[in-house]
Amino acid sequence: MTESHDPFDEKAATWDDDPAKVERARVVADALRDAVPLGPTTRLLEYGAGTGLVTQALRDAVGPVTLADTSAGMRAVMQRKVETGALAGARIWDLDLGTDPVPDERFDLVVTVMVLHHVPRLEPVLAAFAELLDDGGHLCVVDLDAEDGTFHDEGMDVHHGFDRDELAGQLADAGFVDVTFRDCHEVERDGVTYPLFLAVAVRPPRSGGG
Ligand SMILES: C[S@@+](CC[C@H](N)C(=O)[O-])C[C@H]1O[C@@H](n2cnc3c(N)ncnc32)[C@H](O)[C@@H]1O
Repeated sequence: MTESHDPFDEKAATWDDDPAKVERARVVADALRDAVPLGPTTRLLEYGAGTGLVTQALRDAVGPVTLADTSAGMRAVMQRKVETGALAGARIWDLDLGTDPVPDERFDLVVTVMVLHHVPRLEPVLAAFAELLDDGGHLCVVDLDAEDGTFHDEGMDVHHGFDRDELAGQLADAGFVDVTFRDCHEVERDGVTYPLFLAVAVRPPRSGGG
């Protein structure tokens, strides 16, 4: 009999030991600094934050931060970072926007890095991002460009990256505007180079104003 478990739980403790993951977070943070307005009042939600590496790399550029992840192991690593000061003041949420109610909160920036290819149905998650963002807020998605399925082990039920035009359409369907894509980084795995994009989308003002 097998119990269901989250594969990210066992990866959490050694996640930050991989220099490539630390470097990826640094490069992504630099791309975000270049792509969206940031400041001391910017309320950041990082969704699927893992051990919080991207938020750590952005910490000096933003205001209050909230980090969400479905893996208890990842959340435990982040909690330790809150306690030791590496993620001082951060809130940590156990949240799956595919199934959980959307929290009654507002953010100026939602960042999600290498997460959406693990999300079976994007539609409710993108809609939840739009709900969580304040008018004019930005959604930043970093993920794999469409790949041949070799990035993950066989049998893993994930998206094989994303076609940029298709994802742009899904973001527009969720109500986002001004969707742009740029090349962001590359991941090397078993001698293969997998490109990553950064998509930036704007949450337009809610009708009715106020
Ligand atoms: C490839 S890791 C990336 C972690 C981190 N963003 C980084 O760049 O180092 C994917 C993360 O997404 C989380 N995750 C997967 N599905 C999720 C979901 N439906 N909701 C929230 N987090 C999820 C996993 O637990 C894991 O921490």
